[in-house]
Amino acid sequence: MGRWMWDFNTWALPRLEALERALGAWVPSSAPAGLGDAMRYAVLDGGKRLRPLLALAAAEAVQPAAASPDAGAAPATAGVLRAACAIELIHAYSLVHDDLPCMDNDVLRRGKPTVHVQFGEAPALLAGDALQALAFELLVPSDGSLTDAQSVRLCRLLALAAGHDGMAGGQAIDLAGVGHVLTQAQLEDMHRRKTGAVLLASVLMGATAAGAGACDAALAALRVYGQALGLAFQVVDDILDVTADSATLGKTAGKDAAADKPTFVSLLGLEAARRYADGLLAQAHAALDGAALHRTEALHAVADWVVRRSH
Ligand code: IPE
Ligand code: IPE
Ligand code: MG
Ligand code: MG
Ligand code: MG
Repeated sequence: MGRWMWDFNTWALPRLEALERALGAWVPSSAPAGLGDAMRYAVLDGGKRLRPLLALAAAEAVQPAAASPDAGAAPATAGVLRAACAIELIHAYSLVHDDLPCMDNDVLRRGKPTVHVQFGEAPALLAGDALQALAFELLVPSDGSLTDAQSVRLCRLLALAAGHDGMAGGQAIDLAGVGHVLTQAQLEDMHRRKTGAVLLASVLMGATAAGAGACDAALAALRVYGQALGLAFQVVDDILDVTADSATLGKTAGKDAAADKPTFVSLLGLEAARRYADGLLAQAHAALDGAALHRTEALHAVADWVVRRSH
């Protein structure tokens, strides 16, 4: 099917429904002393679900067309769904902690009061901790939906993306960078870690859960795509912080300048930051063209969405 005949909403809607159902089933309301309520509040009813959609798109790209669902069909094997949801749980945990008073001190997230505003700081800290652990629990199922070898590789990918060399390390650089002017290379390094690593992992984990081997040429192409898109995502997040309003974003606009954070907008200015994101988008598209992948419509469409989004 050519890209011109392909409709993103037709593809995304059944997949979003499947993701919401799975997240709703996997995040327990039974956790003690209100912990389950805080966890579910952090994960459900909000969020674009960009990372799990990327995982599903990557999974479909490495499956032969005959084995891959049509755009409108019910998506994803149980194993792919686990990988996709594990990523979203890590992302949700990172947002809960990112919003804490000791970090960005934000009161609005996904159009709702932040978890610590709603439940208190200690419950928010614990909800984040428990979501991180639950992410890894999802990757080691006892129902055979992932092979042991897949589980090991998925846990490794997620740990590397979330930990000191990825998201947590990037957040440390972010906090240390307040009030400082970073070079473009330093800013790229921070963004690749704090946000890019988890987006890249979404792509690699989706493909891995769908059966791609670590040395497949397809995975190499997906890595180039994921790296470009991961960086583009945070550049656009920096742009939207300046150009969008809080109601549209569902989080407080203008926070980066108010907190004196180094961003691509503060470094390059708005127009150059936009051009930079466009260049990264072109790199992401180019990585898919000619690669040993089957269906790439969804990966192309998600890339456009990441860079052209309004929130
Ligand atoms: C926001 O991510 C936080 C960053 C990593 C910059 P998203 O824009 O994907 O947030 P949700 O999941 O849609 O709320
Ligand atoms: C957050 O970056 C990145 C992570 C949560 C890892 P930001 O601090 O820019 O995200 P927002 O703008 O609050 O969503
Ligand atoms: Mg932050
Ligand atoms: Mg923040
Ligand atoms: Mg931001």
